[in-house]
Order: sequence, then C-alpha cells, then structure tokens
Amino acid sequence: MVQLVFATNNIHKLREINHILGDSFSLLSLKDIGMEIDIPENEATLEGNAMYKAKHIYELTAMNVFADDTGLEIDVLGGLPGVHSARFAGESKDFSANIEKALAMMGMAENRNARFRTVIALILDGKEFLFEGVSEGRIISDKRGSEGFGYDPVFVPEGETRTFAEMTLAEKNRISHRARAFEKLREFLVLHADKRQ
Ligand code: IMP
Repeated sequence: MVQLVFATNNIHKLREINHILGDSFSLLSLKDIGMEIDIPENEATLEGNAMYKAKHIYELTAMNVFADDTGLEIDVLGGLPGVHSARFAGESKDFSANIEKALAMMGMAENRNARFRTVIALILDGKEFLFEGVSEGRIISDKRGSEGFGYDPVFVPEGETRTFAEMTLAEKNRISHRARAFEKLREFLVLHADKRQ
C-alpha cells in the first residue's frame, strides 16, 4: 500500500481527502508523523507554496508527501486575492473582512469573473508532480448562504444560480476546485500503484 503524508494541520481537509482516496492509500497527517509545524506560505504563486510545503516535509522525513494551496482569482483585480486569499484583509484570516475588502476593491465593476484554483504538489519516490483543479464562476455583490467557508457566500460557480454557501457540502464537492484537484491526484496515484505492483 502506498503510504503518503498530507502536509496539512487541517483536520477537515484530511477527512475530505481520506474519503476521496479511499482504502488503497495509507494517509498520514503531520500529527501522525509527529510534526505539527506551521509551514510558511511565502511564495509568490499557489504552485510555489504547495511545492514548498511538500519539499519541506520531504527534506525532513524522506517520505512520500503532498501539499495543497488554494486561492480565489478575480479577473478585474488582476488575479487578487490569489495567493493572498487567506490573509487578504490581515493576519486574523477573517473571512468577512476578506470578502468586504474584495468587494470594495471591485466596486461596481461589470466584469465579475473569478475562479477558485487549487494546486497540489506531490513528491513521490523523490519526483515532483503538480495537479490543478479549477472552479470558474462570478462574484456577486451581496453575500448569500451560510454553508462552507471563506469566499463561498459571494461565489456563484458557472452554470449555477446559487453561491457555494447556498449548497450542501456534497453539492459543492461535486464541482469544487479542491475536489477536482484531489480527483486528479487520486487518478495519478491509482495508475502509479498499478505500475508498482
Ligand atoms: P487554503 O490554501 O486551502 O488554506 O486556502 C486559502 C484561502 O483561500 C482560505 O483561507 C479561504 O479564504 C480561501 N478558500 C480556499 N478554498 C475555498 C473554498 O472552497 N471556498 C471559499 N474560500 C476558499
């Protein structure tokens, strides 16, 4: 069985990915390997941050490892908040303040196009791989819904009338950036596991 470390301290993400990866992989958290450290996210891109986190753990443990990073890219803001999504309005990582800041910067802009992008960096048998999951959509000017987290109340995915925050977790997971990226990782790992046998 392929053993993999998921370089995150987020228990919700771990549960989510455990569900997607199923029983064929043995997934370990940072806690499981005795490394509850906060890995810095100082790179200029999602790819850079995800790879930095994976490499950090790989260099310390030499174990197979993956890490993820997600951002909301708003076209009229030149891709902001992007890699700064979590701390857009400050270190407190306040979801409401982040939304207010983004909406204020967008003003009455007609172009409301945006996308969530998740990047996963994997280091497997010492080799580096990147996977991407995208959810295209638009930003509305008033918050709607109470599910989810982050920018969900103002993001309406393409082909939908509801925001992510108006969907159940199961509905969001069918079309979300993160689910798409993790599904690509799963497909890759299944192929890889087959080749190893
Ligand atoms: P992370 O890389 O998954 O920690 O995500 C960074 C930030 O992006 C979070 O703090 C949220 O503000 C935002 N974000 C990530 N995923 C989502 C999502 O599915 N919905 C809304 N906001 C998200």
